Amino acid sequence: MKNDLTRRAFVRNAAAGSAALTWLGAGRAPTVFAAEANKPALLGGTPVHKGGWPKWPQWDESWEPEIVDVLRSGRWCSSGSGGRAAEFEEAYAKLLGAKGCVSTASGTTALLTALHVTGVDAGDEVITSPYTFIATYNVCLMHRTLPVFADTDPATLTMDPASIESRITDRTRAILPVHIYGMPCDMDPINAIAKKHDLAVVEDACQAWLGEYQGQKCGTLGDLGCFSFQNSKHIPVGDGGAITGNNQELLDRCWSYHNCGRAHGTFKGSGSFSRGTNFRMMHYAAALLHQEIDKLVTDTKRRQENADYLTAGLREIPGVEPVRLPENSRAVWHLFAFRYDANQFHGLSRGKFMAALRAEGVPCGGGYHEQYYDGLLDEAIASRGFQRLFSAERLKAYRDSLEELKGNKQVCATTVAVFQTLLLADRSDMDHILEAIRKIHAHSAALVT
Ligand SMILES: Cc1ncc(COP(=O)(O)O)c(C=O)c1O
Repeated sequence: MKNDLTRRAFVRNAAAGSAALTWLGAGRAPTVFAAEANKPALLGGTPVHKGGWPKWPQWDESWEPEIVDVLRSGRWCSSGSGGRAAEFEEAYAKLLGAKGCVSTASGTTALLTALHVTGVDAGDEVITSPYTFIATYNVCLMHRTLPVFADTDPATLTMDPASIESRITDRTRAILPVHIYGMPCDMDPINAIAKKHDLAVVEDACQAWLGEYQGQKCGTLGDLGCFSFQNSKHIPVGDGGAITGNNQELLDRCWSYHNCGRAHGTFKGSGSFSRGTNFRMMHYAAALLHQEIDKLVTDTKRRQENADYLTAGLREIPGVEPVRLPENSRAVWHLFAFRYDANQFHGLSRGKFMAALRAEGVPCGGGYHEQYYDGLLDEAIASRGFQRLFSAERLKAYRDSLEELKGNKQVCATTVAVFQTLLLADRSDMDHILEAIRKIHAHSAALVT
């Protein structure tokens, strides 16, 4: 046991290998020992991290009576005003510094609602990011609009504002930036372009609870912001969502649309009902979410501290580049991503790098792929509805333009990311992540073969 501990402690300190050999002296036996101890786990060595990682979702038993209360009240549906949903909406709006909030059944339904009330209609085009969860594409398609993709900036992984204007046509109605992985988009230039061309801005903040840009929270930077509270999210409830904003009239329209088109507040509609749907959140969900707010705040701080530590550590390792954030912004890290340069790892493929990292006990993935080639866009543009709404020339040019997404292609091929729960672990676990990467770097030539 003692030997084992000594060996593990040594391995931890000797990630790059060479310093360790100096420490051990020139003797033959210790040199062999060092090489074996430091061998990548993928090649039969000992994993750097063996202790597991925090599980998700997490909840506190003290939250359970509130849920039972809702059950016993018999008031489960939020179609009327007040109740747990309204309490949560007020608290969430306050947390973000927004004028108001409308809770919804999911992030997808929040986005559908926000696009509808900002005037997005069949036959329009919406400029959005290709580097996102597929729901962002789907909400545009569900409104029978073309999701026209701005390119992804490889340095930030978010929408490159410089690539927006050339994509605006006379059909463009809105910009839908995505704060992917909880990293705020560069919203000032995006808002300026929207203003110049009279476009609505709906933020897909589904991964960006408490993300900040220029002192304001994500979800309050455009006309409306949309959030997801799905199971994996930082404030999870199974399925749930919210729309936030500072324009009361738009918020009232959201309320109406998500509640069967009933008139609400300043929005009287065109009679008793306007077009609408049922995208309401249930009161049970709201009761849970409301209680999760304090945890969201403390967890976010912890993730940010650990992400800062990892960012500083990665800067010291060749071939792994942290993501750049816009000036004066704060990410909340739904995933913690960095860019991998195989050239600095003797040509070790990203796939094998990730396999080696997983073998060291660090779960990771490659993020999003080029989803626009997955068939859903082809299926949509071949459909009767799209063919009626758009000319054949426009649909062909649209399909061809996907080839222009060079930045996004690069991002899809080079990103490596770890899930948010890893950032809730201890500082010593962050050292394990860095040590595992250093170890793979030091042994990359052996791993290639
Ligand atoms: C960027 C993004 N947009 C939209 C959504 C859709 O949210 P939901 O799954 O709650 O419908 C998600 C959720 O995963 C997301 O991550």
